[in-house]
Amino acid sequence: MRSVHWVFVPLLLLTGGTLRISAAPLRPSHAAHAMVASVHELASRAGVDVLRRGGNAVDAAVATGFALAVVHPQAGNLGGGGFMLIRMTDGQMHFIDYREKAPLAATANMYLDSQGNLIAGSSLVGYKSIAVPGSLAGMVFAESKYGRVGLQRVMDPAIHLARDGFALAWEDTQDLRDPELGKFPESRHIFQRDGNYYKPGEVFIQPLLARTLERLAHNPDDFYHGEMAREIATAIGKGGGLIRRQDLSSYEVKEREPILGTYRGYHIVSAPPPSSGGVALIEILNILEGYDLDQLGNRSAESIHLITEAFRRAFFDRAEFMGDPDFAKVPVAALIDKRYGAAWRQSVDPEHASISRELKRPTIFSELEQYAWREPGPLGPESSNTTHYSVVDREGNAVAVTTTLNDSFGSRVTVEGLGFLLNDEMDDFAAKPGVPNLYGLIQGPANAIGPGRRPLSAMTPTMVLKDGKLFLVLGTPGGPTIITTVANILMGVIDYDLDIQEAVNAPRFHHQWSPDQILLEDRISPDTLHSLASKGHTLKLEHFWGDGECIEVDPKTGERLGASDGRNNGKVVGY
Ligand code: DON
Repeated sequence: MRSVHWVFVPLLLLTGGTLRISAAPLRPSHAAHAMVASVHELASRAGVDVLRRGGNAVDAAVATGFALAVVHPQAGNLGGGGFMLIRMTDGQMHFIDYREKAPLAATANMYLDSQGNLIAGSSLVGYKSIAVPGSLAGMVFAESKYGRVGLQRVMDPAIHLARDGFALAWEDTQDLRDPELGKFPESRHIFQRDGNYYKPGEVFIQPLLARTLERLAHNPDDFYHGEMAREIATAIGKGGGLIRRQDLSSYEVKEREPILGTYRGYHIVSAPPPSSGGVALIEILNILEGYDLDQLGNRSAESIHLITEAFRRAFFDRAEFMGDPDFAKVPVAALIDKRYGAAWRQSVDPEHASISRELKRPTIFSELEQYAWREPGPLGPESSNTTHYSVVDREGNAVAVTTTLNDSFGSRVTVEGLGFLLNDEMDDFAAKPGVPNLYGLIQGPANAIGPGRRPLSAMTPTMVLKDGKLFLVLGTPGGPTIITTVANILMGVIDYDLDIQEAVNAPRFHHQWSPDQILLEDRISPDTLHSLASKGHTLKLEHFWGDGECIEVDPKTGERLGASDGRNNGKVVGY
């Protein structure tokens, strides 16, 4: 290994706490060698810094991940979970599952009252909503197995950012005013300065987090097996949560086989269960492969209608069949079978919207049986966090990571004395089958709460190969809209010939079977909306969602083309 002098200097400190202001880019950024795309410039720089010093894409991804835990506490994390998809330049692929797990004391009815009704908010805010975190284990695992430069070096930028601070952007200061965060004294103290809220441009210093990161850089085992495990379990126990030392010591990272599919000659590599993302994405693409979308026109009513019908069908299957594969039998092979996609296609009427409650599943595979419609309840509030980052290094190794605390700032609980937030991932289980969760998702018994189970996720880190070579690295936050946003970006490039930045920028639309409506970004033209409504669709407009942080490798020149998302102030950095 080369010996290098390892100093990371936060750029914004050099520029005297300059505000982070990103314009929405219209063209991709070009880099000859390597690229990192993330929601925060300093996190992207942390990754590129490691790349320039001989690190590979995994080193850079882990460095970016730790930096995000400092500069983007809404979703970057030590106390959450995630999925990392790796493709090495020799074609080897790895999928690292560090999704959170339900504590051993968790029970199927833990969020229901004595009448069997959901206790509002109980799976969302506070100690009882916390699942056993996997992020630290996952990042350490990835670094030690696939990285090159070692944990201390990849954690170094994060330690500096926590200790020396960084200037907050306007968006961050708005997010930090979160009223739920203010309900927990440690969180209120750290993130809200006890009510003296941070202003744009002010430098945010996190000494407790810096100390925690330093401890972990020297002894990562401390988090799950050592003194830090004791501190975490004690703090959670004191607050009334279920996580004990044994939950931490029994946490394990899983390597799983990625989901593979093809679409119009491209190879798709994506996230397997306990994410629903890869299976739903391939199912959607299989249904759509039978249509000439390009000829129907990008964002035309005809295209949006057909794509919506594919979304509807894949989410119908998601609700019924998906869960933790270590506990539930998930019929992956049938769901991603092209014959199943073709059978679903037969049920799509090009002129009229299907009605979700009347969908009949094709009967070609016995494991995919019909089940009864469950009446959905009201939608919960929308949340805006989770974060995705993509890396391509100069050798062509690539990493796609989506990581989350679930809701923005997770459970809002900061571990006393350790300075990091804990997730509220328990809400991703079906707290009561048939009743929608935070994202309005209805889910079945395959995703019921049980000790040691992993809640079903929608996170969809994805890669696309062209002629066997790396072409796209994709991903976004957005709860259920993650799946449809990744599909929209992928089809933007493959079907509509957009460059990666245009595909990220293009207005999004989403359907998740229930509620039976198309969610559309409000830049879709009124004529198109009118035409969709006349096909029988119910429409709901939103300003925007998601944060695609994506990279395309130019097939002709090999250049790395980075696209960050103007919707969320993201930033690609390359060289
Ligand atoms: O794993 C999941 O699917 C969710 N916990 C992700 C949450 C999310 O993306 C929220 N962001 N907007």
